[in-house]
Amino acid sequence: MFGKVFVAALALTAAVSAQSSSASSATATSTASACLQSEVTATAQADLDSLSSCTTFSGNIILAETLSSATITGIQEIEGNLICKNNTQISSISAPSLQSIGGAFTLNGLTVLGTLSFPELTSIGSINWVTLPAIDSLTFTTGVTSCDQIYISDTDLSTLNGITLDSVTTLDINNNLNLNEIEMPLTSVSDQIDVSFNGETTISFPNLIWANNLTFQDVESISTPKLQTVNASYILISNNFEKLSAPNLTSVGGLSIIKNDDLTSISFPKLATIGSAGLEISNNTQLEEFSFPKVSAISGAIVLSGSFDNATFDDLTLVRGAVTISSDEDFDCSAFDKMNDDNDIRGNDYVCSAASSSSSSVLSSSAASSSVTSSASASSAVATSSSAASTSAASSSSTAGAVAFGPNTQGVAFGGIIAALFFGIF
Ligand SMILES: *[C@@H]1O[C@H](CO)[C@@H](O)[C@H](O)[C@H]1NC(C)=O
Ligand SMILES: *[C@@H]1O[C@H](CO)[C@@H](O)[C@H](O)[C@H]1NC(C)=O
Ligand SMILES: *[C@@H]1O[C@H](CO)[C@@H](O)[C@H](O)[C@H]1NC(C)=O
Ligand SMILES: *[C@@H]1O[C@H](CO)[C@@H](O)[C@H](O)[C@H]1NC(C)=O
Ligand SMILES: *[C@@H]1O[C@H](CO)[C@@H](O)[C@H](O)[C@H]1NC(C)=O
Ligand SMILES: *[C@@H]1O[C@H](CO)[C@@H](O)[C@H](O)[C@H]1NC(C)=O
Repeated sequence: MFGKVFVAALALTAAVSAQSSSASSATATSTASACLQSEVTATAQADLDSLSSCTTFSGNIILAETLSSATITGIQEIEGNLICKNNTQISSISAPSLQSIGGAFTLNGLTVLGTLSFPELTSIGSINWVTLPAIDSLTFTTGVTSCDQIYISDTDLSTLNGITLDSVTTLDINNNLNLNEIEMPLTSVSDQIDVSFNGETTISFPNLIWANNLTFQDVESISTPKLQTVNASYILISNNFEKLSAPNLTSVGGLSIIKNDDLTSISFPKLATIGSAGLEISNNTQLEEFSFPKVSAISGAIVLSGSFDNATFDDLTLVRGAVTISSDEDFDCSAFDKMNDDNDIRGNDYVCSAASSSSSSVLSSSAASSSVTSSASASSAVATSSSAASTSAASSSSTAGAVAFGPNTQGVAFGGIIAALFFGIF
């Protein structure tokens, strides 16, 4: 370690002092021009060694498919990208003195890569790691504290220890089947976090205050104690937790809680506004009751579907989009009926159906209101409510709820959301 640093220092000294000697100026020039290349493709370790006098390398370094290991010595900064793709024999990549990669750090299709040793690395433009099935940990000893975009997919990583960021534009972590934990001190996320289909992943963002979008699928737990704002949409699909809590969340652009089969309780005690992406709570089979005590206005649509008997919105006074509610339990529609009667539901459609005895009057009122607009619309909600209108016998049966929201796959469900949002808003 000291030896390498010393050699690098000597090389640097030689390069700097070369100007005084005409005999070595050719070397200095070639060294300098070596460091200023726009791209080097290293097919052997010697190609990397020839750059070891460069403190800063200006361009991209490509590690070719012929390397079985790679050590980048001397270089402290790569201004361009560091890329290694489609190499099925490289087992180790290390860069003992590298502190910064200005561009992308791309690793793709490296089937036996087991060691990534970057003990001094603190700053990366973006991380793009895909299909690294043999890498289970990072040797990022100092730790990366600056990286704008992260995409990590199909690796064997069990943690992201060594990547510790305060802010990020995008963080997309998917299909890492051993990833059990993501904890980061992020305070803001300017585009999105998407964590989907990894291992039994616990998520902890103890300092996160706002994120533009958040999507979590198939995670074990989520802790966001300080989260105040999700500007665009907060989407939770097919997760494995029983409880979901956002204790400090006051504003979301949209909130979708879909098909979380173990979910029994949700807590959004401070949530006051929901934006144009609306609210959907559907197919959470164990979620029997929920409340949004502080939500006063929803700029988009509401879709509630499932087996709930109590959905309480104490402060709600305005819904700009459509409202589609169906429960196969004994849910009382009267609060929503009243909002609809008072014209506080501004969207084209209002449907509330439940498996209760009280639902027949509810269905007739919803059918009456939706039949006014059904000819102008084509959403599934409208189609359902107009069929309810035409067959009043069917409307009191317990299958009305299932008809009102029938999609059986996520894709169809999303189509339903989009249709509901679209027709709700316009
Ligand atoms: C990597 O390999 C795949 C399939 O073998 C090929 O489609 C792709 O073009 C290769 N990429 C590079 C950068 O060689
Ligand atoms: C919750 O948000 C408020 C601002 O709305 C902030 O003052 C407070 O510190 C936050 N609480 C926590 C626990 O972060
Ligand atoms: C999101 O909302 C927060 C809090 O209101 C705000 O500071 C931030 O600029 C917004 N971000 C975007 C991308 O709109
Ligand atoms: C993230 O937010 C933007 C708006 O800021 C939106 O256009 C985009 O579709 C969102 N992405 C997801 C996955 O929701
Ligand atoms: C429904 O939930 C609200 C809020 O949690 C609660 O105050 C109310 O008592 C519940 N109603 C019934 C019938 O359980
Ligand atoms: C969603 O709920 C509807 C209505 O209860 C049901 O018909 C449908 O099968 C459910 N879909 C999934 C994927 O569970």
